[in-house]
Amino acid sequence: MSGRWTDVSKSRQLGIGVLALAALSGGGRLTSCGGDSGPTLTVYSGRHYGIESAFEEYEDEAGVNVEFLTGNDAELRERIAAEGDETEADVYLTVDAGNLWKAAEDELFQPIQSEILDSGIPSELRDSESRWFGLAVRSRTIVYNTDLVDRADVPTTYEALAEPEYEGRLCLRNSSNDYQQSLVASMIAADGEEQTLEVLEGWTANADIFANDVALLEAMAAGACEIGVVNHYYLARLLEEQPDTPIGLVWAEQDGRGVHVNISGGGVTRFADNVDLGQQFLEWLATEGQDTLVADNHEYPANPAVEPEPLIRETFGTDFKRDALRADVLGSYNAAAVQLMDEAGFG
Ligand code: FE2
Repeated sequence: MSGRWTDVSKSRQLGIGVLALAALSGGGRLTSCGGDSGPTLTVYSGRHYGIESAFEEYEDEAGVNVEFLTGNDAELRERIAAEGDETEADVYLTVDAGNLWKAAEDELFQPIQSEILDSGIPSELRDSESRWFGLAVRSRTIVYNTDLVDRADVPTTYEALAEPEYEGRLCLRNSSNDYQQSLVASMIAADGEEQTLEVLEGWTANADIFANDVALLEAMAAGACEIGVVNHYYLARLLEEQPDTPIGLVWAEQDGRGVHVNISGGGVTRFADNVDLGQQFLEWLATEGQDTLVADNHEYPANPAVEPEPLIRETFGTDFKRDALRADVLGSYNAAAVQLMDEAGFG
């Protein structure tokens, strides 16, 4: 889900109050081409898929102009930090708990006391200091080529993928990826550093490494590997486009801690001009806006009162155990995860 600054054509659909980018490189300037009445909320978003639908719906429902800019997570964090008091960003949305944690460490958020967010979002999916809130859930789990492996023979733990029998049969994501780092952080939390290092050494011996989950799934569908690990929604998207794809999903760690889950989410920036508007927008995303937020991207709603969208409800179901690890631990173990992958020589 990496990205560049988006073209304005993406925000064109909003019609009013959209941001135009004067330049696409060198930290391009934002220009507002608003002019409609009503307050304006500005969002920087590292989360791309389907986000415009949520912005549009919120504009209609709340009578607020939403301006937004999408981009790479780290670039947007740096941009908010560099802009400081001058930033337009009232809200920063992004993917991966590690990214949210880093934004909090960089003091880009302010704490938000909200009954609606505290009751709607489970405590493990939000910051213990209320600076950021998970809004949608993505599971990073085990997938397999259904033509090449029987369901009963698919390993069901991340640790088992290190066994010698999977040498040359495994596809995994590269170590520089946020999702991969958060998965390894969750393994450190469960198994400790020493055991995690051993597992990573096994993965290194067994796996072909891919730069993104989409390429990994394509390789798997073509028979290049039998078993892999991806975020569930990438498989959902693939199955939506090509229902005959011979790839199945197994929820990992069901006899233990539960499948690794990550989040996309956001917070109100420390420099927000419109703190109340930012808070109301997050509250809407956590409640009435949940359906729209997850619809296009096939994530699970973070709010347990909201049903997942039909495709994942019917294809993957809702009856599985999730790792209850606090999302902020994924951030606090991020550096250790990167270090261990490096030590293990993992791509
Ligand atoms: Fe993604």
